[in-house]
Amino acid sequence: MMANLAVLSFVIVAVGTAQGLSVRDFPEVNDRPIIGVIAQASEGARATFGKTYIPASYVKYLESAGARVVPIRVNLTTAEYTKLFNSLNGVLYPGGGVDMFTSGYAKSAKIFYDLALNAFDEGDYFPVWGTCMGFEQLTALTSNRNVLTTCKGTGNKSYKLNFSKDYKSSRMFGKVPVDILTDMATLPLTPNFHEYCLTPQNFTDDAKLKSFYKILSTNTDDDDMEFVSSMEAIKYPVYGVQWHPEKNNFEFGSLLKITHSDAATRVSQAMANFLVSEARRSQHKFTSPEEERSALIYNYTPVYTGTTAAAHFEQCYFFD
Ligand SMILES: *[C@@H]1O[C@H](CO)[C@@H](O)[C@H](O)[C@H]1NC(C)=O
Ligand SMILES: *[C@@H]1O[C@H](CO)[C@@H](O)[C@H](O)[C@H]1NC(C)=O
Ligand SMILES: *[C@@H]1O[C@H](CO)[C@@H](O)[C@H](O)[C@H]1NC(C)=O
Ligand SMILES: *[C@@H]1O[C@H](CO)[C@@H](O)[C@H](O)[C@H]1NC(C)=O
Repeated sequence: MMANLAVLSFVIVAVGTAQGLSVRDFPEVNDRPIIGVIAQASEGARATFGKTYIPASYVKYLESAGARVVPIRVNLTTAEYTKLFNSLNGVLYPGGGVDMFTSGYAKSAKIFYDLALNAFDEGDYFPVWGTCMGFEQLTALTSNRNVLTTCKGTGNKSYKLNFSKDYKSSRMFGKVPVDILTDMATLPLTPNFHEYCLTPQNFTDDAKLKSFYKILSTNTDDDDMEFVSSMEAIKYPVYGVQWHPEKNNFEFGSLLKITHSDAATRVSQAMANFLVSEARRSQHKFTSPEEERSALIYNYTPVYTGTTAAAHFEQCYFFD
């Protein structure tokens, strides 16, 4: 009887404090993490290969850190996205060029974002990561409006990060080896390919953004305008970088400003390791091994698209 009471009171306490859970309360229990990557509509010459695509660099990046990948396709039903959410251990919003409010990419991003926040409030871990346009998508999802401004010279440049004061206590950078952090702060190792920026002023002026995220680094454009380059949510496992950690290791367009030095590749690997370690905190899984196998990106073959010096993607997966 005493034992039963003890168990009962433990359950009540656990439910009662779910709101107060911190991301640090979730251990890395899942060593077979599967991360979803969101597809987007193909434009221009790319459309000749398929209606939607995912650059293969994001897939290799996640695989290099021990994850497997499932493509999250455009225009599925909410029920289909929800089923994927319950099967996957995290989501990555890649870069690209679609609308932050009306595109199929934005619609699926919103469904995963809402599900991830609700899940966290109920004690269930599901990391959300946005890269470049994915970062911009996160600002739209959190603020419910367009808070971006155009910036200059950020379309093909690698920067050293101007880290915020307490970045070492962040989750995103807290476990990155100090020599890699030193390289990130002193060498231009973060490739930028964007024309929109979030200024620290616009960030601070938006009550939702300001209370949701912490700025971890900034950079400065050609007009000396400062912009947020890395951020993480204070309470939730939500992360955004305006730069491209996957490109150092996996994109080689010779007309693009991407560094492939030893230091640059270690930055890429460290960021991949972080995201995949986050996914190991999630215990979602497919209902059967067959269902898992049929969802994995191994069912698709990437196409070699890096056939010109200015091509942004060496290989892409195409769908639909
Ligand atoms: C998604 O659905 C919209 C609206 O029906 C349509 O315009 C669009 O072409 C679809 N996208 C893809 C990639 O199928
Ligand atoms: C963001 O900053 C730019 C440049 O300072 C400004 O023009 C724009 O109005 C700001 N947007 C919002 C939503 O605050
Ligand atoms: C670096 O970031 C700090 C805020 O953390 C800011 O005050 C400073 O102006 C930034 N420097 C550059 C060169 O962007
Ligand atoms: C990107 O920048 C590099 C120099 O930093 C330059 O050589 C290259 O031509 C640029 N590429 C494009 C497509 O503008």
